[in-house]
Amino acid sequence: MSNQYEITKVRALEILDSRGNPTLQVEVFTRGGRGLGMVPSGASTGEHEAVELRDGDATRYAGKGVLTAVSNVEKEIAKPLIGLDCREQAKIDEILISIDGTPNKSRLGANAILGVSLAVATAAARCKNQPLYRHLRSQKQYVLPVPMLNIINGAKHAGNQLAIQEFHVMPVGFTDFLEALQAGVEIYHILKEVLVKRYGAAAKNIGDEGGFAPPMTESREAFDAILYSIEEAGYTPEKEIVLAIDAAASEFYTNNRYLIDGHQLTSAELSDYYHRMCKEYPLFSIEDPFSENDFDSFATLTKRVGEQVQVVGDDLFVSNPERIQRGIDIGAGNALLLKVNQIGTLTEAIQAADLAATNQYGVVVSHRSGETEDTFIADLAVALSCGQIKTGAPARSDRTAKYNRLIEIHHELGSNARFAGSSFRFPLTG
Ligand code: PGA
Ligand code: ZN
Repeated sequence: MSNQYEITKVRALEILDSRGNPTLQVEVFTRGGRGLGMVPSGASTGEHEAVELRDGDATRYAGKGVLTAVSNVEKEIAKPLIGLDCREQAKIDEILISIDGTPNKSRLGANAILGVSLAVATAAARCKNQPLYRHLRSQKQYVLPVPMLNIINGAKHAGNQLAIQEFHVMPVGFTDFLEALQAGVEIYHILKEVLVKRYGAAAKNIGDEGGFAPPMTESREAFDAILYSIEEAGYTPEKEIVLAIDAAASEFYTNNRYLIDGHQLTSAELSDYYHRMCKEYPLFSIEDPFSENDFDSFATLTKRVGEQVQVVGDDLFVSNPERIQRGIDIGAGNALLLKVNQIGTLTEAIQAADLAATNQYGVVVSHRSGETEDTFIADLAVALSCGQIKTGAPARSDRTAKYNRLIEIHHELGSNARFAGSSFRFPLTG
């Protein structure tokens, strides 16, 4: 009798991500079905992230090929996995980490390792004939996340002068995911008209995550245009829609100063700036407000605004349990941005989320600016019932694929799911 869960073959391909850069697709075959994992890729990456292995061969894709990582999957990783049970995610991830043998997955590549790790999980779900979220975590009741829709793109994701990388709307004042998403989408379309009126036709060009990339120079212009669009769309700011940003501040930090809105600010001045923005606008979530090694400034800002406002660590924590613990110890931030490819295995990513949640930190499951059509993170956000997902504007298939998967899950779960809504920070305890 053959075991349907037994891994029989592991295969990888070099495919393309949403920016047209090479990335990996990994397939894990079992007797009970095939699992698939596609690997995302960041642009404003944190310096402490696990290492994405690129070929560096300038004759192909300007050195960005991933054929070495593909070969690492097929020549080094595949063999030790053959015959293993695909439900044993933790054991398999442990094996991947030990074959690599480095602390940052630089030998085989975090991209090679993650592709396998995700494909093992989707193979197991397939074999069990269960939706992925249920395989990842079996629960009676799930929480559907508030979408953080990144509707204005700046910095490294756009060609404008905005220092802040992402301006989001979070539709919180709705009873279910569909209504919330609809509100976000309607605001997105009105914003397009508003931007064209204010800045000309080129303002509707979009950035890497599907949000508009208007020729603005100051953050206030973005906040004002979004606020106006919320009202024009017939929604109530704060009650129904709150604002969020990802400053990605490491990208505008040099020589101890932050260059934002034409000013060179110290971290204390930048903290004042955020404080003012939170007073003037319904801004309830700030990601990476300071550079990626400045735990102290994160802690100071969290102390100052953290009761009301979510302070999210992305490049600060890089989804790494050790760095998250360091943050918890001093109260740096009060939420984790969870990106599976920053740490490189599913098991470690879930550990990171659990560590954050058990220490009263919020958790936002997140895409990367370079994405694929893979919808794994939609299921992950539901499995964790974390209450928030950041997966771009409601435009371009690499982004809408995740929203569409959440729509499907909404219908599938019916009354076995509730929408996180305004308790997005602590969806399980309210
Ligand atoms: P990245 O951006 O994927 O380019 O790193 C996303 C983010 O900073 O949250
Ligand atoms: Zn970020």
